Amino acid sequence: MTNQYIQENKERFLSELMDLLKLPSVSADPKFDDDVKATAEFLKNRFSEIGVDRVEIIQTKGHPVVYAEKIIDPNLPTVLVYGHYDVQPADPIELWDSPPFEPVIKKTEIHPEGAIFARGACDDKGQMYMHLKAYEAMLKTDSLHCNAKFIIEGEEEVGSENLETFIAEYKDMLDADVILVSDTGIIANDVPSITSGLRGLSYVEVEVVGPNRDLHSGLYGGAVANPINILADMIASLQDENKHITIPGFYDDVLECSNEERTEMAKAPFSEQAYCEALDIAETDGEKGFSTRERATIRPTLDVNGIWGGYTGEGAKTVLPSKANAKISMRLVPNQDPHKITALFQKHFESIAPDSVKVTVMPHHGGEPALTPIDSLEYKAASLAMEESFGKKPVPVRSGGSIPIISMFEKVLGLKTILLGFGLDSDAIHSPNEHYGLYNFYKGIETIPLFYKHYAAIKKS
Ligand code: BES
Ligand code: MN
Ligand code: MN
Repeated sequence: MTNQYIQENKERFLSELMDLLKLPSVSADPKFDDDVKATAEFLKNRFSEIGVDRVEIIQTKGHPVVYAEKIIDPNLPTVLVYGHYDVQPADPIELWDSPPFEPVIKKTEIHPEGAIFARGACDDKGQMYMHLKAYEAMLKTDSLHCNAKFIIEGEEEVGSENLETFIAEYKDMLDADVILVSDTGIIANDVPSITSGLRGLSYVEVEVVGPNRDLHSGLYGGAVANPINILADMIASLQDENKHITIPGFYDDVLECSNEERTEMAKAPFSEQAYCEALDIAETDGEKGFSTRERATIRPTLDVNGIWGGYTGEGAKTVLPSKANAKISMRLVPNQDPHKITALFQKHFESIAPDSVKVTVMPHHGGEPALTPIDSLEYKAASLAMEESFGKKPVPVRSGGSIPIISMFEKVLGLKTILLGFGLDSDAIHSPNEHYGLYNFYKGIETIPLFYKHYAAIKKS
């Protein structure tokens, strides 16, 4: 019944998503503040239409949260759905084949049924919106097996800093049995998977200052420290020849994966060759002693995200720059504390700076890693739901990305999360030409009601 409703309304579901994707809700850039607000309004209206008991836009110190709920029976389990309506900036805009906020549907090799191209298509508007439509389908076919609460935020892409206070303040309102999130991915459309852990994040910006002004690189070069050369040296020294991070204490708290777990993980299908081909690289690179998948999921990392300084315009200008800057991220694994890692980084980075320059380290937002158990009732329900919709039992996999609020849900609300995502790594989230497969969008809408069904049944028994 629910499936039939989905079939009959699939075109409308898609056109509603297109409308949502037209709103440029870029949380990082104040220029889009009105669009962010309009997106919250849009969602509030969609929630009202589908017949929730209550829907509200709740202000925070930053962008608002959209909250909705439907309590059908207090004795039934309650699913708290989390998602985010904010998106990453679209830059570099010139690399998009079509404008980022004018969604279009195109077929690709991986998505022969078509995919919707727009910023936020997969991360997370497309995935979040599946929950509204799945809920609508359940409600309209009288098959809502659990109470539902929705918390859709507008600041995930900037670190969810206000959401932490929000969930503490609204703890009672958010009371539930489990949290359900679609903001991750599956291995492939024919290899369903459930994310069993996320990495944390520590993000810093550094500045290296040398002489008090830019200098003629002929008159001064060789005698005065060049901040860019120094910054490059300092960054290079943060990893040794085995790509092991050299910051003292960096690995102290790392919860190592057992060999058993690693063996289990290695069973998930992965082709090194296909991976390289998709990225047009000759070979992968990373920490010695770990596989490509392990490097990208269960190991902590340190990466420069951006670096600038000196002359970068047309032609050659001979200059010895006064300053150099970089933005550096460290992905963290379970049990590493972002605040502690940021402090270790700062101390170490300052200590390796030569006296010829001044160094400052400015911490940005961070996020804690998360682990979601795979032996819980909740996981079982998710696994059964996917098995039913994909016709194949999903495998648990750790993901390399971060969703800072997940660990807060556990700390503040005492609730476990199920990461039931449907995106693909190749969907280009955060990149130009982000897209989301129509197959994935509809598969999500089909799977979510099955989760509610199996979860209610398991809780009852
Ligand atoms: N949805 C992503 C995280 C993600 C994507 C996890 C795919 C697993 C698979 C989320 O929106 C995101 O981009 N998070 C940021 C962290 C945040 C603090 C900016 C990230 O991982 O960089
Ligand atoms: Mn996301
Ligand atoms: Mn994101």
